[in-house]
Amino acid sequence: MIEVRNLTKHYKFGNVTALKGINLTFEDGKFYTIAGASGSGKTTLLNILSGIDSPTSGEVIVDGLRIHSLKEKELRRYRLENFGIVFQFFYLVPYLTGLENVLLPIKYSKKVKNPEERARKLLKLVNAEHLANKLPEHMSGGEMQRIAIARALANRPKYLFADEPTANLDWENKLRIWNLLQKIKEEEGVTVIAATHEREFFRFADVVITLRDGEVHEVNDGNGKA
Ligand SMILES: Nc1ncnc2c1ncn2[C@@H]1O[C@H](COP(=O)(O)OP(=O)(O)O)[C@@H](O)[C@H]1O
Ligand SMILES: [Mg+2]
Repeated sequence: MIEVRNLTKHYKFGNVTALKGINLTFEDGKFYTIAGASGSGKTTLLNILSGIDSPTSGEVIVDGLRIHSLKEKELRRYRLENFGIVFQFFYLVPYLTGLENVLLPIKYSKKVKNPEERARKLLKLVNAEHLANKLPEHMSGGEMQRIAIARALANRPKYLFADEPTANLDWENKLRIWNLLQKIKEEEGVTVIAATHEREFFRFADVVITLRDGEVHEVNDGNGKA
């Protein structure tokens, strides 16, 4: 479970208060969508939840642990073992194959016993077995994102964060990725927290949290049965 208490974020650059006192609870095994217009604070919130960025004030408590109180090195290890993160622009390592990209976090953490077996299982889960030996430059956007999702799941994280994971994809691939995220929630049991401004995909979530101008505007059911 992730608890967010009185979270604020002020950016000195531009003198912007991007989060103005956010309180939220994320329960295990559910699919959350963070919605809201561009500039509403979705990326800022996700980056603080996933430990990429730190808050100005307030707390993020993950399974009882105040993650922003950890030392940098401890936080890095915690993230590696417990969080998977997916980005809009995929960020695959360009000189590594699909399989090698998925293996990378496993090699860093040593949490998983049979790296190759785990990586191949994940390639299968995301329908990308045929990309095992291909370099990213020979993959489509949808294929790169499927590899990035497999990589994010490599160390069996409890939480998967995704920031506008389909903003760069065509319609067919957008649907494929949202369906895949939902399947992952079910088959891997991860809690999914995904930001999108695209209303068409809210139906994949169990809970839709809408931000407006740095505040929680509303919390609704998606229907989670898309
Ligand atoms: N690194 C940054 N430095 C300064 N201002 C930022 C930074 N990142 C975001 N902002 C500002 O914070 C607000 C929220 O941005 P963001 O979290 O990116 O929203 P969203 O992801 O919903 O589009 C915006 O006003 C944006 O300009
Ligand atoms: Mg954003």
